[in-house]
Amino acid sequence: MIWEQLLWMLALCVLPLVLCFLQADADLTLLWAEWRGRRPEWELTDMVVWVTGASSGIGEELALQLSKLRVSLVLSARRIQELERVKRRCLENGNLKEKDILVLPLDLTNRSSHDMATKAVLREFGRIDILVNNGGTAHKSMALETNLDVFQELMERNYLGTVSLTKCVLPHMMKRKQGKIVTVNSLGGILPVPLASAYCASKHALRGFFKSLEAELFNYPGITISNIFPGPVESNIFKNSFTGEVTKTIGNTTQNIPKIATSRCVRLMLISMANNLKEVWICLQPGLFIAYLWQYKPTWAWTILSHKWRQTIENSKRAM
Ligand SMILES: NC(=O)c1ccc[n+]([C@@H]2O[C@H](COP(=O)([O-])OP(=O)(O)OC[C@H]3O[C@@H](n4cnc5c(N)ncnc54)[C@H](OP(=O)(O)O)[C@@H]3O)[C@@H](O)[C@H]2O)c1
Repeated sequence: MIWEQLLWMLALCVLPLVLCFLQADADLTLLWAEWRGRRPEWELTDMVVWVTGASSGIGEELALQLSKLRVSLVLSARRIQELERVKRRCLENGNLKEKDILVLPLDLTNRSSHDMATKAVLREFGRIDILVNNGGTAHKSMALETNLDVFQELMERNYLGTVSLTKCVLPHMMKRKQGKIVTVNSLGGILPVPLASAYCASKHALRGFFKSLEAELFNYPGITISNIFPGPVESNIFKNSFTGEVTKTIGNTTQNIPKIATSRCVRLMLISMANNLKEVWICLQPGLFIAYLWQYKPTWAWTILSHKWRQTIENSKRAM
């Protein structure tokens, strides 16, 4: 009798937690920080924030939300006209003045330009408080049908370009003993994703680099290395993805996967920055559940996912 009552009580305690998890769109530490932690509005104002990949998608939305927080913004990507458009949107919708935003064109693959770009930011604003390594590209093709040029280009853009820029900015943060390096990775940097082997490889490489870098910075507790791992997010990434060839992108297609809204993803990124979280996952269900399963029970995850992966590959072949 007493056991029956105990089981009922346990079920009543666990049920709300399960219901909350079913609705969660981020890992539990991040959701806790959203509920009880520091607000971006208190923590990030007056900071100098450099965002790469600011001409579109997550980077553009990040610039817009930051522009409401009274920061100084540096907007970088390759397409200057798109950066100017984002700057205008920030000026119209945010609390910034012309002098608070620097448009700084930058190609992640042109590594010799990164030092000059860093100096340009320091000349303009005197310091860099936050570097957001966000620029990047994906592809959609089977590994064996993907030209090596695609592997090389994605390593250059997503991995080496980001490492190079970080190596230019970090000495300045080390001198000041403070700063945040925030990198927009992907759940593809933790989990395998079929039809995205080159992308996943570049994002796994980024994760390895930043985790090791963080371990080396034990004498700099004021510097935070933060890795953001989103699942699918509304943006232009699918349209801009390479096919198996580096000269061809996918273009407009419909993706039948649940995607988190860009504004929600960016709000959660800002909460993560305000609370100095080191690793965060942002994803709708069932992706979030899969990420947890992968972390704690990888063999079970393989068994559950292999059926889904087969379907994804077969659907993609049918669509071609
Ligand atoms: N959307 C998702 O589902 C998703 C999920 C997980 C992770 N992510 C990550 O989120 C980040 C942003 O992607 P997004 O979804 O916002 O896609 P997006 O809309 O296609 O934006 C990509 C940005 O990266 C810039 N970029 C591309 N190549 C570059 C280069 N060589 N040098 C400098 N900038 C470059 C682009 O600007 P230019 O073309 O003007 O250079 C653009 O601003 C990426 O790192 C991506 O891997 C996205």
